[in-house]
Amino acid sequence: MKQDLTSAEPRDPRAANNVSAVKKCRVCGHSIQAFMSFGKQPIANLASPDVAREQFTYELKPALCEACGLLQLIEVPSGEILFNETYPFFTGTSELMIRHFGGWAEQILARLKSVHDPFIVEVGSNDGTFLANVARHGVRHLGVEPAKSVATVARARGVNTQESFFGSETARHIRAAHGPADVIVAANVIAHISSIMDVAAGVAELLKDDGIFTFEAVSLADVIRNTEFDQFYDEHVFTFSVRAVKNLFAQVDLELVDVGRQSTHGGSLRYVLAKKGRLPVTPAVAAALDDERRSGLEDTRTYEAFAQRCSAIRDNLKSVLQQLHARGEPVIGYGATAKSTTVLNYCGIDSRLVEFIVDNTPVKQGRLTPRTRIPIRPPSAFAERNQNYTLLLAWNHRSEIEAKEAAYRTRGGKWIVYIPTVEIV
Ligand code: TMP
Ligand code: ZN
Repeated sequence: MKQDLTSAEPRDPRAANNVSAVKKCRVCGHSIQAFMSFGKQPIANLASPDVAREQFTYELKPALCEACGLLQLIEVPSGEILFNETYPFFTGTSELMIRHFGGWAEQILARLKSVHDPFIVEVGSNDGTFLANVARHGVRHLGVEPAKSVATVARARGVNTQESFFGSETARHIRAAHGPADVIVAANVIAHISSIMDVAAGVAELLKDDGIFTFEAVSLADVIRNTEFDQFYDEHVFTFSVRAVKNLFAQVDLELVDVGRQSTHGGSLRYVLAKKGRLPVTPAVAAALDDERRSGLEDTRTYEAFAQRCSAIRDNLKSVLQQLHARGEPVIGYGATAKSTTVLNYCGIDSRLVEFIVDNTPVKQGRLTPRTRIPIRPPSAFAERNQNYTLLLAWNHRSEIEAKEAAYRTRGGKWIVYIPTVEIV
């Protein structure tokens, strides 16, 4: 991703430089090869009526670097065509995520109690769901967010937001203007940036000597164990293991000092890094590395088996939907997630098999899913259709959605889930 200080303008997606492909690991330079392909895919988080944007595709194929353990996509669209004024993912659409970020902010603020005039920077601050908790306490903060759509919402709620991509140049400017950061936070964003070493350099540049960098990302171990194949889509350039994170940040003298599990997004890890030698390394780091080794994350056969399970899920899901269609049973989708773009395109599911999808994000409503062209409607359409079967596309929000739609279950409605296997529940 190009690093500049201006926000991203939507680019013509037909431009030739919109996809970059690598043959070597983006971190250590070792040769890499895809272990499977999910075929041609459109932009995952797309809620735009722009036909050129909808027709844009790249090939979704993940690869494991056998030298440093970093799982990455071979091809990725440029950041500018993803994160701009049309970006439709708003963190605040989930009550659970609002609570999750509230709790995390409280922990960070408690840690900073004895620091005079602390400064917190968030990379990829989205609609300000996290930083709103910091702003409320009058603590100095800055969100860095390239997507105008979400940055505008953040600013309107009182969160200081700079519209730009994050990298070493941005970091230098922030440090010059505001001083070093006591805490740099990033949630579900570091794994989205292909120029990851420039991000790491920026973090090292901006962080105070005794500061911490803490971020959350989907866990590779969970993705593999649960066959969460839909965690692969354009924005998720990397799927981190603890080993890969430790190796990557060691290159800029940042040390992994703690790691802890989070239940969000189908299983995430929260990492804490500090300048080398500044903080004691907790036993959790060695324990997590051991766990990974034992679960076969470094073994190529693990990924071959994963690829086979993906094909089995694809065939089973398609066959369940085709059988329901043959019986004249309408199926509705729940959650027009970015993940669902991979599922629908990989499995070949269109509006014949899923009549429409409900989603609570206003900018998605009235649009079509990219390439598969399934209409997206507001949540009210869910109860009105009186269907017996619903495909749970936002499966990572299952408890929140099941609680919200308890009446559906009471009247006998069934959920079709496909992670970790296809089941009607
Ligand atoms: P995510 O899985 O990337 O967090 O995306 C979740 C999507 O699901 C997002 O478009 C909002 C939508 N959603 C609903 O429509 N209803 C809900 O209750 C929740 C939690 C999410
Ligand atoms: Zn590597």
